[in-house]
Amino acid sequence: MSLFSSSIGLRKDSIRITDAEFVELRDFIYEKSGIFVDEKRKYLFESRFRKRLGELGLSSFSDYIKFLKFDSARREEMVRLFEMVTTNETSFFRDQKQLDAFRDHVLKDVIDQQRAAKKMELNIWSAGCSSGEEPYTLSIILHEMLGLEISRWRIRISANDLSKAMIDKAREGLYPEYAFKTTPDAMRKKYFKQDGDLWRINRDVTRMVDFKLMNLNESATLKRIPRSHIVFCRNVIIYFDESMKKRVVNSFYDNLVPGGYLMLGHSESLHKVSKTFKPIFHPGAIAYKKE
Ligand SMILES: C[S@@+](CC[C@H](N)C(=O)[O-])C[C@H]1O[C@@H](n2cnc3c(N)ncnc32)[C@H](O)[C@@H]1O
Repeated sequence: MSLFSSSIGLRKDSIRITDAEFVELRDFIYEKSGIFVDEKRKYLFESRFRKRLGELGLSSFSDYIKFLKFDSARREEMVRLFEMVTTNETSFFRDQKQLDAFRDHVLKDVIDQQRAAKKMELNIWSAGCSSGEEPYTLSIILHEMLGLEISRWRIRISANDLSKAMIDKAREGLYPEYAFKTTPDAMRKKYFKQDGDLWRINRDVTRMVDFKLMNLNESATLKRIPRSHIVFCRNVIIYFDESMKKRVVNSFYDNLVPGGYLMLGHSESLHKVSKTFKPIFHPGAIAYKKE
């Protein structure tokens, strides 16, 4: 290692975030995304951002905050910022028990309602879809459930995320082994083709999913999502504070058609967030119904 690189290493490591800088950066992130970074994550936060400060040639967190607020490249930097503060953990067929309840009760109910009304259309919204595993899983479940009848349905799955890198990955539809850690083998064999070390998802599955970069904190933008029969927002509101949770859940309520359902992650609930939905308890899952 040269003297030069070791001194750079030392300089980068010595950039610390002060309490005041942490609060200012945390409030800025909250204002822009609704994500609330807990004090406990301060040091994790510091190490994630330090690398970025080095890349930009900045020597303090105060300079970075100024950069985010005033630099001509601030819009592009927001994309990087969101990527550094979000957790994108996901997988195909995540939470099988919930998905069983979804298929056997929620989806069945909505499909029966639509058939009775002779409206062969279905809109699902996957809000906070990460790299696409969730909306693609929903598309696979629909293929399994409807079989050949699927060609007579107009199905649209709107899938959004705050992270551009995740949306790009989702659109590419190419996945490594670990994306299948919760996936039955038969499903992988049926809906994916091996491509080197990776797996490419079938066109039939991707066709009905529409990915867009979107911030759940921007309620005006959310109004562009077509009215949904079902909203999936799993493992997303866990990162929001109470007021952001309320705003986002209200947007879901407004978006849903009467009789529609909201599905949250297994560690999330509407307790203290909303009383407008009726919770319906199934083994392994709660579905929130808009009556
Ligand atoms: C842990 S992942 C969950 C992915 C998937 N729903 C699942 O349960 O497997 C959370 C996702 O929410 C996204 N997210 C966080 N805040 C968001 C916001 N304000 N607007 C849109 N997406 C957001 C993150 O970028 C991340 O990809």
